[in-house]
Amino acid sequence: MIIATLGVASVAGILYFLFNLWWPGWYLDWTYRRNRIKIGNRLMHLISSGQFLVDVFEDKVKSIPKKAFVLYKEYTYTYEDMDKMANKAARAAIEIGVKPGSTIAIMIHNHPSIVWSYLGFMKAGYQIALINIYLRSRSLSHSINSSGANVLIVGEDPVLSEAILEIKDDIPNITTYVLGSSKQSTLFLSFDLVLSRVSDVTLDKNIRKHVLPTTTNMLIYTSGTTGLPKPALVSHTRTLAAAFAFQTFDISPDDILYETLPLYHSAALMIGFGNTIMSGCTMVLREKFSASHFWEDCRRYNVTIIQYIGEVCRYLLAQPKSNKDKSNKVRVAYGNGLRQDIWTEFKERFDIERIVEFYGATESPVAIHNITNKTGSCGRSSPYLRQFTPMVFVKYDLEAQAPIRNKAGYCIPIHTDEVGLMVVPLIDGKTSFQGYRGKKEDSEKRLLYDVFEKGDKYFNSGDLFRLDKDYYVYFNDRIGDTFRWKGENVSTTEVSNILTDLDFVTDANVYGVLIPGTEGRAGMAALHLTDSNIGTLTPAMIVSLSKHVRTVLPSYARPRFIRIQKQFDMTSTFKQQKTILVREGFDMNVISDPIFYLDISTYFYRPLDHEIYKQIMAGNIAF
Ligand SMILES: *[C@@H]1O[C@H](CO)[C@@H](O)[C@H](O)[C@H]1NC(C)=O
Ligand SMILES: *[C@@H]1O[C@H](CO)[C@@H](O)[C@H](O)[C@H]1NC(C)=O
Ligand SMILES: *[C@@H]1O[C@H](CO)[C@@H](O)[C@H](O)[C@H]1NC(C)=O
Ligand SMILES: *[C@@H]1O[C@H](CO)[C@@H](O)[C@H](O)[C@H]1NC(C)=O
Ligand SMILES: *[C@@H]1O[C@H](CO)[C@@H](O)[C@H](O)[C@H]1NC(C)=O
Ligand SMILES: *[C@@H]1O[C@H](CO)[C@@H](O)[C@H](O)[C@H]1NC(C)=O
Repeated sequence: MIIATLGVASVAGILYFLFNLWWPGWYLDWTYRRNRIKIGNRLMHLISSGQFLVDVFEDKVKSIPKKAFVLYKEYTYTYEDMDKMANKAARAAIEIGVKPGSTIAIMIHNHPSIVWSYLGFMKAGYQIALINIYLRSRSLSHSINSSGANVLIVGEDPVLSEAILEIKDDIPNITTYVLGSSKQSTLFLSFDLVLSRVSDVTLDKNIRKHVLPTTTNMLIYTSGTTGLPKPALVSHTRTLAAAFAFQTFDISPDDILYETLPLYHSAALMIGFGNTIMSGCTMVLREKFSASHFWEDCRRYNVTIIQYIGEVCRYLLAQPKSNKDKSNKVRVAYGNGLRQDIWTEFKERFDIERIVEFYGATESPVAIHNITNKTGSCGRSSPYLRQFTPMVFVKYDLEAQAPIRNKAGYCIPIHTDEVGLMVVPLIDGKTSFQGYRGKKEDSEKRLLYDVFEKGDKYFNSGDLFRLDKDYYVYFNDRIGDTFRWKGENVSTTEVSNILTDLDFVTDANVYGVLIPGTEGRAGMAALHLTDSNIGTLTPAMIVSLSKHVRTVLPSYARPRFIRIQKQFDMTSTFKQQKTILVREGFDMNVISDPIFYLDISTYFYRPLDHEIYKQIMAGNIAF
């Protein structure tokens, strides 16, 4: 009997072992898939009954009218309060003659008014273009122009109306309304005046009956791969789908989300705000991220979920340690870009139960989540999961900045543990790329054709990943974040992880710059120092930086230039910041920050001055 039992157990054990060998992590895939099916069914149910995010919101207003929806400073807005304001916003837009189905641009900071504007304009079935509030001059007028809107609503903050005033002549066909009652409203039309004239009664849903699942709900600007911000078209289906993201963990109506990311980006609006509505929970809105107020706010509002981008975590860790660090109710941190070097420290110092890292982009047809506990991985992509979330990783040529193609002209899938470009097949009814509004070329640039066979079509994610033998996916770099120097590939993420090992470095943004007379790109790192009052590297720091870089990095990966950046602000996304840094390079004529260069005769960093700069530009200094 015992022997028989042992026999059965060992046979089962062997079968399990073999099965696992054949399909590593199958139980994780099943769990993930079950969760996806549940979400998929709920999504399909809503879409097939003609319901979109705004309808879900209106249902919540009926079922939980008095529940706190948005907390802002000392104010509480219930579901019902926001609904009334949203009704007014919708009616006001109709009153000023915005045509059904057309676009309204909004440029509003994180404030309750962006919430009710967004909801209200959805109620009336308009498309909403979300203008980045930090844009100025040409990029601002370009963004507004490319939205196709005729009406622009500007938030109450006077800096916003001043920014518009500067470019008024470049947007001649746009009527601007200002919120609030500041003196700027005399220079523009007052939206408050219109609001005061209209009722707050719910609109008949018929007003948005032209809205279909594929209809564009909003335009969210992304940097794309390069250049000026491009409006990515986000349909109602995608808006709805993103609002299920938190169902990958057990979000409940009792949760309180702390939102410090800007609501004009997809992370905060599509995911943070969308999920607040979907689960009927509460969102604490803060004007902008503040490292010193973060945990104080979390305690004050009993926050249970926080949303991050990598820099947020880094700046929180850079705050002085406090014995209150663990006293918070945060159970989930959701976001992307948390780098491996600080993952554990972040989780432990602030006692966060669960970190859910995801990969996705506003315009990407797919997203993945790490719901497993594999360090460093942002999700899984097994053959099984790829049937539902299709993605392929192909070999990429960094020099040519294009996928490598074989003799027949097709792309080549990577082997286990190699790094490759993620591409997503565009299959009708399964995956779709809605593209950007306006110039067709911008959208075309994101597509790849004839990838594995003649006539096929793929979305180019622009991101490089590694896939291990157990099908875990690891983010490696964005295209352009890996550069070639001395015939070697340098990964900016790896170098920056190493630089932040130094206790006086909070963050390091690494990129490649051109040096006249050399091939490829030389590494450059923009550093944020832990003690921001110093402003530059002290002699002792130079010694330890030089030593660290020399010890840990191979010669080709050692940054040739170091730039000390004074402050951290979230005025632009990480990607945009990098574009600016790359453009400025080490040009002493445009940068006022201290710059150091690597003297390769001693491998010591030295301050860059105008004389040496001239020598470098003349090709007289070896790198
Ligand atoms: C916006 O459009 C107007 C009208 O066509 C044009 O005069 C202006 O140059 C455009 N501005 C930008 C920044 O594209
Ligand atoms: C702006 O309006 C004028 C007059 O209606 C029209 O001729 C022009 O094409 C418009 N420009 C844009 C960029 O829509
Ligand atoms: C936070 O929770 C504590 C205890 O659970 C409670 O006393 C307090 O009123 C809550 N604060 C808010 C703002 O809800
Ligand atoms: C991962 O860890 C979390 C929290 O520790 C736990 O709840 C969850 O079940 C784990 N997931 C897997 C797949 O092991
Ligand atoms: C996600 O992955 C990280 C490591 O990369 C792990 O620490 C974390 O617990 C994972 N999150 C969940 C929810 O399993
Ligand atoms: C660098 O990347 C290219 C792909 O662009 C690859 O062919 C080459 O093998 C890589 N070199 C090294 C040393 O990893």
